Amino acid sequence: RERVFSGVQPTGNLHLGNYLGAIKRFVALQDTFECIYCVVDMHAITQAPSVWGGPAELARSTREVTAAFLAAGIDPDRHIVFNQSQVGEHAELAWVFNCVARMGWLNRMTQFKEKAGKHRENASVGLFAYPTLMAADILVYKATHVPVGEDQKQHLELTRDIAQKFNTDFADSIRRVTGADALFPLTEPVIQGPATRVMSLRDGSKKMSKSDPSDYSRINLTDDADTIAQKIRKAKTDPEPLPSEEAGLDGRPEADNLVGIYAALADSTRADVLAEFGGAQFSTFKAALVDLAVAKLAPIAAEMRRLTADPGHIDRVLRTGADRARAIAAPIMAEVKQVVGFLR
Ligand code: TYM
Repeated sequence: RERVFSGVQPTGNLHLGNYLGAIKRFVALQDTFECIYCVVDMHAITQAPSVWGGPAELARSTREVTAAFLAAGIDPDRHIVFNQSQVGEHAELAWVFNCVARMGWLNRMTQFKEKAGKHRENASVGLFAYPTLMAADILVYKATHVPVGEDQKQHLELTRDIAQKFNTDFADSIRRVTGADALFPLTEPVIQGPATRVMSLRDGSKKMSKSDPSDYSRINLTDDADTIAQKIRKAKTDPEPLPSEEAGLDGRPEADNLVGIYAALADSTRADVLAEFGGAQFSTFKAALVDLAVAKLAPIAAEMRRLTADPGHIDRVLRTGADRARAIAAPIMAEVKQVVGFLR
């Protein structure tokens, strides 16, 4: 059975990269797969409380990400929407995976190196072990497909390595307990569409991110129409008009980024966007992009505001989702325990 899992951290503001690279893709997969979408609150606390804002902010942000899922079109009745910490099996399986993954594998993770910075000795153990929890998130449901942006690719490769090593280390026991050759699937990353890596609006060589000090580097999902328009008008570009073919975007990272954003918002491709705007000046293209972005994003922002005004409703969605998630995770975790040799 094919099953999708993905997660978004409740830290800071959701931005256009999160939407185009992940959440919009989550929506599209609902017709084909059984989907489980998770607000990964346990991942959010791997950095200092001053970074994620402390308990009240974590709760607010967990509800806001949930509201974004629903506002973007994820259907919590047909699929599962919940927050990670309500399903204890994630942490349980993560411990087993901590004992499967090797220090050397985790040492290679570029996200850890970036987030830990120069003072690695001061990073939390949780930040280092982050990818084993992420592998557990996915494999505790035996998910087969994981939609993410480009920046999560390395973590998904590690998830496959962990699944493979578990399957090999416990091969005999897995055969005895389940009759099959492997317990965990080798999950496929789903990194698709024209906006798998949305870049900063101020610097085409930097990823759009929650942590960039300049708010003008990103469009937040909660920005109003005027703010969106201003940010796009101020976005960095080069002096040339737009090319008419994709090859013409080579070496023009800012142009490539804006064309990719347009294509993703319009459910189109770079080639089609350039067929329409090739030869146009950025002033013309940006005006069209403002109209498109406002038309697509303003209704989501409005729906998020409506939903977050009723936290009780959001909490009920999360609780129901968590119950349904647990119903899938618990028997898989029971199987893992039997395979490992934990008595129950
Ligand atoms: P997070 O919360 O940083 O980001 C959520 C999703 O948004 C994507 N993304 C982007 N896509 C395109 N352009 C960008 N500039 C951009 N910035 C972020 C991310 O790739 C991601 O898909 N470790 C994950 C959360 C996680 C997870 C999981 C994901 C925890 N467990 C299990 C999948 C499966 C993270 O920090 O995403």
